[in-house]
Amino acid sequence: MEHWSPNVIVAATDGSDQSLRAANVAASLARSNDAQLFIVTVVRPPEGWWGIVGAPPPAESLGNALTDAQRVVLEKTVEGIDLSGVRYETVEEVGDPANQLANFADTNNADLLVIGQRGAGLVERIMVGSVADRLVHISKTPVLVVP
Ligand SMILES: Nc1ncnc2c1ncn2[C@@H]1O[C@H](COP(=O)(O)OP(=O)(O)OP(=O)(O)O)[C@@H](O)[C@H]1O
Ligand SMILES: [Mg+2]
Repeated sequence: MEHWSPNVIVAATDGSDQSLRAANVAASLARSNDAQLFIVTVVRPPEGWWGIVGAPPPAESLGNALTDAQRVVLEKTVEGIDLSGVRYETVEEVGDPANQLANFADTNNADLLVIGQRGAGLVERIMVGSVADRLVHISKTPVLVVP
């Protein structure tokens, strides 16, 4: 088998401390492998936005409040982690977080998807968040889950 080294890494952030820790790991891996890093946040539209066809609405049609929140999440992440010497891009997606993240990683030929074990959710009793759990099930990209 050939040597494996990541060229493209995706870090998923919801602005939580756990996702920032995960993004910091992703940045470090990107630096040491000279990989491209995508820092991705997904906004889930309110239920009513999902039309009859079940497709997420285009980002332009979302309210400012939602896209502002996404910008804040990305800014908080970029400012909260060490990105020195890392080639990175921030990305805003709309829809179901797990599906969008899995799709984004797949579409961009990512070699690694880095996520937190938990996120911004408030349910203390679960050990693994629902987005993390689902990603481990559906991702075609190797997933690194950071506790
Ligand atoms: N909307 C999102 N956009 C980008 N990444 C996300 C998003 N939601 C979760 N993640 C990623 O998934 C990781 C786990 O979060 P998850 O949402 O599964 O846990 P939780 O918020 O504690 O639980 P739950 O959402 O089920 O209440 C986060 O650390 C982050 O890396
Ligand atoms: Mg969550």
